[in-house]
Amino acid sequence: MDASRPNKPPQGCAQCLDSADLFAYRPTMSIQTTESVLIVDFGSQVTQLIARRVREAGVYSEIAPFSAAAEAFARMDPVGIILSGSPASVLDADGPRIPEEILQSGRPILGICYGQQSLTHQLGGEVTLGDSGEFGRAFIEIQDDCALFDGLWKVGEKHQVWMSHGDKVTKLADGFRPVASSPGAPFAVIADDERRIYAMQFHPEVVHTPDGGKLLKNFVRHVCGLAGDWTMAEFRKTKIAEIREQVGEGRVICGLSGGVDSAVAALLIHEAIGDQLTCVFVDGGILRMGEAEQVVSLFRGHYNIPLVHVDASTLFLKGLEGVTDPEKKRKFIGKTFIDVFEDEAKKIGGAEFLAQGTLYPDVIESVSFTGGPSVTIKSHHNVGGLPERMNMKLVEPLRELFKDEVRALGRELGLPEIFVGRHPFPGPGLAIRIPGEVTRERCDILRKADAIYLEEIRNAGLYDAIWQAFAVLLPVKTVGVMGDGRTYDSVCGLRAVTSTDGMTADIYPFDAAFLSRVATRIINEVKGINRVVYDYTSKPPGTIEWE
Ligand code: XMP
Repeated sequence: MDASRPNKPPQGCAQCLDSADLFAYRPTMSIQTTESVLIVDFGSQVTQLIARRVREAGVYSEIAPFSAAAEAFARMDPVGIILSGSPASVLDADGPRIPEEILQSGRPILGICYGQQSLTHQLGGEVTLGDSGEFGRAFIEIQDDCALFDGLWKVGEKHQVWMSHGDKVTKLADGFRPVASSPGAPFAVIADDERRIYAMQFHPEVVHTPDGGKLLKNFVRHVCGLAGDWTMAEFRKTKIAEIREQVGEGRVICGLSGGVDSAVAALLIHEAIGDQLTCVFVDGGILRMGEAEQVVSLFRGHYNIPLVHVDASTLFLKGLEGVTDPEKKRKFIGKTFIDVFEDEAKKIGGAEFLAQGTLYPDVIESVSFTGGPSVTIKSHHNVGGLPERMNMKLVEPLRELFKDEVRALGRELGLPEIFVGRHPFPGPGLAIRIPGEVTRERCDILRKADAIYLEEIRNAGLYDAIWQAFAVLLPVKTVGVMGDGRTYDSVCGLRAVTSTDGMTADIYPFDAAFLSRVATRIINEVKGINRVVYDYTSKPPGTIEWE
């Protein structure tokens, strides 16, 4: 992929205070499996998609940046290796290289784009600087059979793939033969069956290569010979054993946010260690309608998990008085959350471990291609500052999982669908959906509008098709007329986006009748709002949240 990762903070529920060390690569605590594939990241924007496709094939995979790949290889002892694309050129003297121990390991290797070029370059072939390149959809012609094409592509057929390269392979290294070509890439797919090294110029991991997932599946199943039996049931068993081993007789506290990640982490840990776990739910008055009640009844009532419910709304809302700058809001909320959490932890007699619902994208996105920290666009808040302050060890049982896998694990653990399928909700809550000053009254107004919007989305059967939908309360008043009277009230913005990971997003194209129904209900039912607008901004250039 010829574009570097955009600078961005860790997403989702990432721990994200300003400590540089949060941006450093921390290897995952590899789960106990002999069946894994290592993905070496050379800095492509879409490396994560390779991991997803491999996992969809039922094989556990981990991503390591090229600079830490040798260490990951030794730790994981993977059955196969996949090399990602990169914005770099192998012709640059300081371009990233495949570690020799991987190249000489005798394990199956699949090179993608830059991965193909680096294999060729390091194994004695030739790569030439592209003067024009090939970007976007292309068609390749199959010239010969190979294990990657098993049951999929036949000689003479043409298939759509997605190319994104400037440089290209112009002479194959010894042992390789071409098996597919395109007008712009004579060596679109190459194979060395004896060494089990395969490589392609295009990107099989993106949806624009319609058969790409199957090609990757053929690599991990046929070439690597993996069974494809990595399931959530397996993960649950392994993790429970791991948590028991890590925690021993110790005590764990877990901050619940109301979101799916912390809920799943808490359930899994509770299954492992029972009442050695205490959950703390801090309600800062910036939650959505009914959220606190739902969390309390689920954890206390349904699961009987010890839960401390702290109503800290006065503390939070008092501190937010007069604060209008988004970063100041975020910093204040993050710090206050930590203060309250710390107080509650002391009250219950302390704990050696802190549980967090950190996800895999939070771990891998924190590594930039150049190795430096990314520019902070927003200070995401979670409880990441706690371990240093409280001298606690982290329990992060979801560190290896993607969001959809967390949802699958939630279902496996019997978490009700209303929690499992929930849209993501930011740590700073409604405060960053109320540009300008946040007051209790404005939170109440927004909660009502938001609840109506979400109810209509559910009624229309659209909830699951949308990544995130929410209302925003603008600090703008406009004139309206209701009945015979003049109104002068606030504007409510509606946002709905589709996304796979929150990194990029498209607006959800509601039909006009739906939007007009929601607008009418909000204006009629929520005192304080007399105008509703729909946000038509994708990400980039916008962000999903307004602040
Ligand atoms: P943005 O607004 O950066 O949001 O496009 C991307 C995703 O991250 C969520 N988000 C947060 N999640 N703590 C969180 O746990 C935060 O501080 C935070 N800020 C944004 C946002 O809702 C979207 O899903």
